[in-house]
Amino acid sequence: VTRAIIAGCGSYLPERVVPNDALAEAFGIETSDAWIMERTGIRQRHVAAPEETASSLGAAAARQALERAGIPGAEVDCVIVATATPDSAFPATAVRIQAAIGSTRGFAFDVSAACTGFVYALGLADSLIRTGQARCALVIGTEVFSRILDWTDRGTCVLFGDGAGAVVLVAGEGQGDASDRGILSTHLHSDGRYGDILLVDGGAGSNGECGKLRMAGKEVFRHAVSKLAAVVDEALAANGLAQSDIRWLIPHQANLRIIDAMGKKLGLPKERVVVTVDRHANTSAASIPLALAEVAGRGLIERGDLMVLEGIGGGLTWGAALARF
Ligand code: ACO
Repeated sequence: VTRAIIAGCGSYLPERVVPNDALAEAFGIETSDAWIMERTGIRQRHVAAPEETASSLGAAAARQALERAGIPGAEVDCVIVATATPDSAFPATAVRIQAAIGSTRGFAFDVSAACTGFVYALGLADSLIRTGQARCALVIGTEVFSRILDWTDRGTCVLFGDGAGAVVLVAGEGQGDASDRGILSTHLHSDGRYGDILLVDGGAGSNGECGKLRMAGKEVFRHAVSKLAAVVDEALAANGLAQSDIRWLIPHQANLRIIDAMGKKLGLPKERVVVTVDRHANTSAASIPLALAEVAGRGLIERGDLMVLEGIGGGLTWGAALARF
């Protein structure tokens, strides 16, 4: 059977780093490193320069992923971008990145699923490759959340950062069982009844301005671990795998408490749980591919290692993917 194999991972972070202690001076926020660290594990975040956009960050991550895969941009026949901060309503950010990497084949489009966007995009790319509609897909999560934060709301603005991550998937052959390399399965969920606990209050449906992020943090927290644990169990069961088969947990990086709770639930030692939230903060759709690119880039993941990618975000949306490196 056809499998979507991970051929390369890449990432890009804006140069400017703002540590917790500098938030007061940089953005006039009354907060403290202790408050932020204790509740979230965040030490610092990267913030995009004025000229940077979701497409420029995403294209930089894509170029690194392609280079590491040894695949020229012209060979890419599908670009899927997960973002909540697109350059414009259209053209899609994915189409801009398609042009930036020099691809004129195939198709490109954006996916809107907030912090779960990368898992959704990965699921779509996997389906397109399995069904022969694409052979070389670039899946990107890219965000400039600094542009949609209300910098007067200290309860949200300290939590997020900017960045991008990318994965190149290529069609390959497998046995059709859980020993195969590549994406084994993806499991996507949403429940629109909770749409108002985490949203951006703008767009064509409201005042026409791009809007700012609003979040009922405690409400989101309440859903996070139970929904994530359930979807990971669902993914393992679908493949006849057990928690003990997992080599790497690559979670969405919202908050260290949620990440630690998931690691414990899955019985994983700390070194198997990838954490970047301390340095990147929450980069929404970019956080999973950023985390993946970091451990893959350091050569820590070995061929055949089983990875769980999971996330939850606005929608609510949540999901998980199982993949063998
Ligand atoms: N610095 C200092 N004090 C602050 C700050 C800040 N940055 N922000 C809020 N406070 C104050 C509040 O004003 C409040 O003070 P009061 O009691 O005098 O009114 C107090 O701290 C407690 O505020 P809460 O909002 O109740 O803080 P809480 O303990 O719930 O922590 C947090 C907030 C960290 C957001 C928590 O709810 C959380 O982790 N939620 C999970 C959701 C999450 O991580 N979302 C990320 C995006 S969603 C996603 O990616 C899945």
